[in-house]
Amino acid sequence: MSKNWRPATQLVHGGTLRSQYGETSEAIFLTQGFVYDSSEAAEARFKGETDGFIYARYGSPTNDMFEKRMCMLEGAEDARATASGMAAVSSAILCQVKAGDHIVAARALFGSCRWVVETLAPRYGVECTLVDGRDLANWEKAVRPNTKVFFLESPTNPTLEVIDIAGVARLADQVGAKLVVDNVFATPLFQKPLELGAHVVVYSATKHIDGQGRCLGGVVLSNKQWIDENLHDYFRHTGPAMSPFNAWTLLKGIETLPLRVKQQTENARRVADFLADQPQVARVIYPGRRDHPQADLIAKQMSGGSTLVAFELKGGKDAAFALQNALEIVRISNNLGDSKSLITHPATTTHKNLSDEARAELGISAGTVRYSAGIEDSDDIVEDFAQALKHVRA
Ligand SMILES: Cc1ncc(COP(=O)(O)O)c(C=O)c1O
Repeated sequence: MSKNWRPATQLVHGGTLRSQYGETSEAIFLTQGFVYDSSEAAEARFKGETDGFIYARYGSPTNDMFEKRMCMLEGAEDARATASGMAAVSSAILCQVKAGDHIVAARALFGSCRWVVETLAPRYGVECTLVDGRDLANWEKAVRPNTKVFFLESPTNPTLEVIDIAGVARLADQVGAKLVVDNVFATPLFQKPLELGAHVVVYSATKHIDGQGRCLGGVVLSNKQWIDENLHDYFRHTGPAMSPFNAWTLLKGIETLPLRVKQQTENARRVADFLADQPQVARVIYPGRRDHPQADLIAKQMSGGSTLVAFELKGGKDAAFALQNALEIVRISNNLGDSKSLITHPATTTHKNLSDEARAELGISAGTVRYSAGIEDSDDIVEDFAQALKHVRA
């Protein structure tokens, strides 16, 4: 396999493992176990003296194809496919900490991710400090002698704030911590955390990688040493493995990732530009626009815009609900990265469990709405927003 393939080629051919039948599409190996030719062969496999699969909780051929394809795209040496994005996040963090360790995480995290570091980890004696991740000085101030892990997502959900990944990675190296980046919002096409110095990257493959609303999945990627020393045993013995059927679905999904993300980004940009000119809209946050507060950092660390748009309606919750209810093509759903355009009101859905104060810290108001662009015709989507806004008072 050529390492020099460009992403669109990697995503169609990378990691392919053809069986003796020479199938065009990747095969689904729906098997729990594997048989050995002899007792000696089983012994050698268990000793690690021969290559091959042992048990589907450890690894299996369809999952292996998905992992190898993701490694190629990400520039990672090794990966583990997980049953969901949260299985990837929790495994990536918990596999490398022990009681007495400390985590520093950006406070603008997807709700379940925040629960893992803020609520779950302390139950096992791992303390966590949440910081406003946009300012590097906050990371530095939060570091303790026992800090082992830095964790962030960028751009963040839902307000699309951006964190300086290279800056946080440099600090992590200085203090001997490992930086884990949740790269879901950027997609593997628009941001390469490992190239920016991060040590571990995680995805919810449920989002753009499947991108067609079919299955949950996740993946943890890093160098071989980190996986061997941290994730390997944790993964085998706690069992977050992905189903081979889902690995197959994701292999099919990922083939069209660049085509979908291109159209989604175009639709998101068109909607952002349209909304910015509407009297009912107080502000639009879109990583591809020059008026994003961190436009310079975005230009430095991302190669594309975003498939998501956040915006604030002047009329608060009533206006947000009226807009969502009036949309005809764009559907109300808290998922994202789908080929169908989706919209959600974070204050009453994805971020409802945060206190009013925590929501305000993250810039989520009663009028904040998050749009996840689909792959529909841009004109139809803009026209849908235009007709729906007629139901919203300025
Ligand atoms: C940024 C981010 N990280 C992690 C997850 C968790 O992924 P999953 O739902 O596949 O477990 C999500 C979405 O749900 C997300 O938006």
